[in-house]
Amino acid sequence: MKSLIIYCSDYRNNTEKIARVFAEETGSELINIKDAGDVDIDKYKLIGFGSGVYKENLSPKLFNLVEKFNLKDKKVFVFSTSGVGITFYNNKLIKLLVSKGAKIIGSFACKGSFMAREFSNNKLFDIIGRFSQGHPNDKDIKKAERFIIRVKETSDL
Ligand SMILES: Cc1cc2nc3c(=O)[nH]c(=O)nc-3n(C[C@H](O)[C@H](O)[C@H](O)COP(=O)(O)O)c2cc1C
Repeated sequence: MKSLIIYCSDYRNNTEKIARVFAEETGSELINIKDAGDVDIDKYKLIGFGSGVYKENLSPKLFNLVEKFNLKDKKVFVFSTSGVGITFYNNKLIKLLVSKGAKIIGSFACKGSFMAREFSNNKLFDIIGRFSQGHPNDKDIKKAERFIIRVKETSDL
């Protein structure tokens, strides 16, 4: 069964680190969203969509791409890295994927480092930024490995 990972990781390649773990463990093709313009989605039965979180949302580029797809009966999963590292941010994309006919088989998130002062004066962001330093770390990678093993089991890879 052919599988694909598409990711957007424009800030610090944090999400790309996780995408590489998923691609390696599943033998998937790995595509940066920058190169995903003419991807033939029909070739794949399992697709992972990943992004960093930018101003409380996954990248709009990912939403625009997914809008173009017919995902009927495709198994999909969503992953993100963010300062806080919660799967909550994945939910909007999951909703869109469901509306495109996809079957959701997983949602993953972990922290990804950022420096708040590069884009905000918000004190809370500054604190979250400090806690995010060094992520994704070895523990996050292990968590990603455990996640993708479950995905593989669910998808008959
Ligand atoms: C412009 C910008 C906005 C961000 N907004 C949020 C946010 O709303 N919530 C959050 O938890 N992290 C936020 N972050 C932190 C990123 O989600 C985190 O660094 C992520 O790992 C970036 O992924 P990437 O390196 O793959 O692009 C933001 C980072 C940037 C650069």
